[in-house]
Amino acid sequence: MSDQIEIIRPDDWHLHLRDGDMLKAVLPISAALFARAIIMPNLVPPVRTLDDMRAYRSRIEAALPEGSAFKPLMTLYLTETTDPAEITKGAETGELTALKLYPAGATTNSDAGVKDFTRITGVLEAMQEASVPLLVHGEVNDPDVDIFDREAVFIERVLEPLRRDFPGLRVVMEHITTQEGASYVNEANENLAATITPQHLIINRTDIFRGGIRPHFFCLPIAKRENHRQALRKAATSGNPKFFLGTDSAPHPLNAKECACGCAGIFNAPVTLPYVTQVFEEEGALDKLEAFTSLNGPAFYRLPVNEDRITLTRTAPDPSIFASVDAGPGGQVVVFRADTPLNWSVTSA
Ligand code: DOR
Ligand code: ZN
Repeated sequence: MSDQIEIIRPDDWHLHLRDGDMLKAVLPISAALFARAIIMPNLVPPVRTLDDMRAYRSRIEAALPEGSAFKPLMTLYLTETTDPAEITKGAETGELTALKLYPAGATTNSDAGVKDFTRITGVLEAMQEASVPLLVHGEVNDPDVDIFDREAVFIERVLEPLRRDFPGLRVVMEHITTQEGASYVNEANENLAATITPQHLIINRTDIFRGGIRPHFFCLPIAKRENHRQALRKAATSGNPKFFLGTDSAPHPLNAKECACGCAGIFNAPVTLPYVTQVFEEEGALDKLEAFTSLNGPAFYRLPVNEDRITLTRTAPDPSIFASVDAGPGGQVVVFRADTPLNWSVTSA
């Protein structure tokens, strides 16, 4: 088997870049590897209007390294007061790629999310009409629902009725973590797709507690049992165009992770591509890697495939991989499993 793989430059279909010093610290890492990324809008305060979105895009562009061709694909944070006219306008100008739906309270910075789904019907109609995809954080936040069941319950209680009411709405179930999520997407029509993160292909819920509590393995949706990890591996490596890479790289400063009530979020941008390649190799599916990282996403989003390529090399040491990243006054951000040897590294990008 070849020790080098060349693939079309990947895109990241789910990325948290934050703002300020953190943005400056993490953006160059993603920009060096990926051509484009869907930029999550869960800032504090959230990116709610086209004006917020334009201002955030300008801050991202200003933080890009000189000469970088990286393109941020911008999203709005869907709230109960989002104006449907903004959707139509943003779609017309091409500035708005998608809207992100957070059920209120489901995850980090989701307080402004949706509580009453009847209040967003006007926005969903405008999205359906303008073909703007809805990206869902697919978990209910009902405290009576066990954290490990929240994705499966979301499908039943929220997603299925919503898709029935808006059959033309294009939906991405972000960061699926369960067998139920993978099957639901598999069986649905072409208006539903899903992103999958590297961590959910690599860790299961037992890993979060292996030898002690591991805050850097905590993200939402939380990793599930091993059978779910296996189902996600099968979906990602199947070649099915409904599944594509969204890293959900979500940096938090070390002191916000290693404390009594640590934040959810895994920072994986520097190690995603080696890890994903390793997973595809383990599954005997290296021939499907490019579809997952570089072809399926653009097809769903109706965007052109990237023109240049990157090279991954087996076991070459990768100087771009480090244990943590300095995020300025905010402190260090710990990289996902940087201490675990990787079989692949990006040698030209
Ligand atoms: O683990 C997560 N972190 N899940 C999310 O949905 C949000 C993200 C963040 O913004 O940190
Ligand atoms: Zn996310």
